[in-house]
Amino acid sequence: MKVQIENGPAFEVAAGEDSLLRAALRAGFDFPYECSVGGCGACRFDLLDGPMATLWEQAPGLSERDRRRGKRLACQSLPLGDCTIRVRPAGSEPSGLPAAQRLSATLMTRRAVTPDLSEFTFRLPADPGFRAGQYALLYPPGVQGARAYSFSDAPGEPADAGIWRFMIRRVPGGRGSNALFDQVSPGDVIDLDGPYGHAWLRSADADHPRDVVCVAGGSGLGPMLSVARGVLAEAATASARRVHFFLGLRTQAELGAAAEVESLGGGDRLQLTTVLSNPTEGLAWSGPTGFVHHQVEATLTALGRPFDAYDHYFAGPPPMVEAVQELLMVRRRVPFGQIHFDRFV
Ligand SMILES: Cc1cc2nc3c(=O)[nH]c(=O)nc-3n(C[C@H](O)[C@H](O)[C@H](O)COP(=O)(O)OP(=O)(O)OC[C@H]3O[C@@H](n4cnc5c(N)ncnc54)[C@H](O)[C@@H]3O)c2cc1C
Ligand code: FES
Repeated sequence: MKVQIENGPAFEVAAGEDSLLRAALRAGFDFPYECSVGGCGACRFDLLDGPMATLWEQAPGLSERDRRRGKRLACQSLPLGDCTIRVRPAGSEPSGLPAAQRLSATLMTRRAVTPDLSEFTFRLPADPGFRAGQYALLYPPGVQGARAYSFSDAPGEPADAGIWRFMIRRVPGGRGSNALFDQVSPGDVIDLDGPYGHAWLRSADADHPRDVVCVAGGSGLGPMLSVARGVLAEAATASARRVHFFLGLRTQAELGAAAEVESLGGGDRLQLTTVLSNPTEGLAWSGPTGFVHHQVEATLTALGRPFDAYDHYFAGPPPMVEAVQELLMVRRRVPFGQIHFDRFV
């Protein structure tokens, strides 16, 4: 099948492809997107001509107004024949990022980090590569649609080629995450597709390397571990970048997540601040409490450098991500090019 972009290029959709978005990205077209799973609305387009199936009618990425205007989501659409569509290329990604591949991967191990968060390690039959901070789509058995999970590792040793690790939280009532915990055991095979995502670790500015701020809310731990690992893997010269890692958890029961960050080592190049939003009374806790974005503001202000002296990476639930965005973009006027995030819609 051929998809023609109005006033733009055309690309082929291979048999077996699962969505217009994935087909376009694999063909090298810079289709706008963020979440890949129907939640954000970034991949909206207009269908001008041709047959197109909608995979998930109720996807929250489209508002009622969008639906009335005939908008569609590329990550929830599949061409059924030759089509013509209208969409503007995102124009934001450089070339040279690893191309996404869909592969059958074997779960090697599952390791509990907190009562509801585990590290899943998969072996792939090939090594598509990825950048620290990106994510992949996992296809849990018996569940409609894919789920996005961020890499918790950074690309590194050749021995790790084709090994993908994720920190996955079991969401109460969530179909995909519970299927991964309950129906996928070591040795089982599921499909993985990636890498995707824009919140990958940028190289340091050669003349003025900026330190990196990582803010993780809950399961946002995974991509922030990946970004921190990427920074700490850089040569430890006098001007090497440092990481200020802020970790927002609910209670002391989740402190295993902080131990994961501490295990990165890094010496004085890694500064971890853990904040509990809802500490359990009677259990020891002498650290800060409240919302993690308040702690980010207090700590960076106390350090005395302007907020745009750092590159900022953050990931987690939408309210946390929106609060950090508001802090950095609106109140502290950090340039957009220094802000990279994933909203776990
Ligand atoms: C970019 C990104 C990175 C993420 N990284 C992580 C991570 O590292 N660790 C982590 O624990 N979580 C991560 N998440 C959240 C994760 O993708 C899931 O949303 C979460 O695990 C809940 O999924 P669930 O299936 O358990 O819940 P459900 O409520 O069953 O599903 C919610 C998710 O599935 C999608 N979905 C629901 N129904 C359908 C359908 N019919 N067709 C297609 N899609 C559907 C929704 O858009 C939503 O993303 C990330 C999310 C995004 C967008
Ligand atoms: S990329 Fe399609 S809705 Fe987010």
